Amino acid sequence: MNLAIVGLQWGDEGKGKIVDYLAKDFDINARYQGGSNAGHTVRFGREKMIFHQVPCGVLNKQVLGIIGGGCVLDPRVILAEIESLKKYDPVIESRVKVSRFCHLIMPYHIKLDEYREGTKQAIGTTRRGIGLAYEDKYGRTGIRLGDLYNTESFGKKLSLNISRKNLVLMDVYNAEPLSDNEIFDRYMGYAGKLRPMVADDTRILGDAISAGKNILFEGAQGAMLDIDFGTYPYVTSSHTISSSVGIGLGIPPYNVESVLGVVKAYTTRVGQGPFPTEDSGQLGALLRDSGAEFGSTTGRPRRCGPFDAALVRYAARINGAREIIMTKLDVLSGIDSLKIATTYEACAEFDPFASGSLVPKYMKVPGFRQDISAARSPEDLPGAARDYLKAVEEHTGLKIAYVSVGPERDAIIRM
Ligand code: GDP
Ligand code: IMO
Ligand code: MG
Repeated sequence: MNLAIVGLQWGDEGKGKIVDYLAKDFDINARYQGGSNAGHTVRFGREKMIFHQVPCGVLNKQVLGIIGGGCVLDPRVILAEIESLKKYDPVIESRVKVSRFCHLIMPYHIKLDEYREGTKQAIGTTRRGIGLAYEDKYGRTGIRLGDLYNTESFGKKLSLNISRKNLVLMDVYNAEPLSDNEIFDRYMGYAGKLRPMVADDTRILGDAISAGKNILFEGAQGAMLDIDFGTYPYVTSSHTISSSVGIGLGIPPYNVESVLGVVKAYTTRVGQGPFPTEDSGQLGALLRDSGAEFGSTTGRPRRCGPFDAALVRYAARINGAREIIMTKLDVLSGIDSLKIATTYEACAEFDPFASGSLVPKYMKVPGFRQDISAARSPEDLPGAARDYLKAVEEHTGLKIAYVSVGPERDAIIRM
């Protein structure tokens, strides 16, 4: 069975933990969009690994990890990640394949992202050069991983890009120009190191599908950060929803057989932009403290607020998710009364165009005091926690398939 795991909020729903947990039953784990802006955390025993580029299911030794052409690739980041993974598998490179189609994140993308974020145009990006790299891809001037293996053509493409970017750096931002020789040498160094992982990914996936292998697709970010369907322009620069799987991996859409949405038991967002259930008071601060809500990629404090069922209904619809996994239910323990947004004053469903002015309508359910992090079956949960889950199911119209009650691998309940 092929299954897509997607975030149904603003990212950081706990996709990393879920992918790592589910990957034990899969042969392949493939990322199809995004880049080093993603921060997917996996905790096991005393170990903690934050994945930015590599699919996080690879901690399961039977899994082949694939980074599809829909992703943008920062060679420095992936190589550092591969180094850290060697602790768990000295030959990890043999289980990670990267598409030749991946557009490369170049030093000028990162520099320009940083400069832009210093202006009124800032949207609170991760400053990893993501938007700039996708701009070049769609502007047809980007450099792909496969281009590194034709030195002459790479040199020409790099010079052209650098001359254009230097104009912007110097004229718009009054900054120092970049040197193409230094970048050329650096990327040639990366090319050699990446070589064993560069692959014809669409063929590997096509063959795997024909052989009936199981593929787990790993989404990055969340539906509300989708370039079209999210809270534009406060979004990322790729399609985060399940329709992106096919295009990001070069496989037909009907090979995505099932879609599982990941939601947090409450809502968070990092960076600027609308957030209807944001709580800037006590509750928000409490959730941030108890849930350790600080960005996995940038360390920024995440904005927090109650669960928004109306938003999740929209996100599930555009993703085709009929079931969800709820993470971080343990974080709600100790809150006397729990709020769930069921709809908004002006409209019943989340509307991205109105997202800046939506006023949520809440229902309340009693909270629970018990520590639920040791719960491993639905019966282990207090009645009030089960009632909260029931209310979420009722107001989202989605079945909760799993509930996660702690960051560790085994802190999960099958419902
Ligand atoms: P992702 O980007 O969707 O993979 O999520 P992140 O890794 O950025 O953020 C999720 C954070 O919550 C990480 O620090 C996880 O270790 C942690 N986490 C995941 N599931 C749970 C859970 O059920 N309970 C608690 N307390 N933490 C969790
Ligand atoms: P994971 O995969 C949360 C947010 C940034 C910013 C906007 C655009 O860990 O869930 P970008 O750097 O992509 O140009 O920034 O998107 N953002 C994320 N927020 N989780 C992520 O990834 C994110 N990736 C990007 O904070 O608001
Ligand atoms: Mg994250």
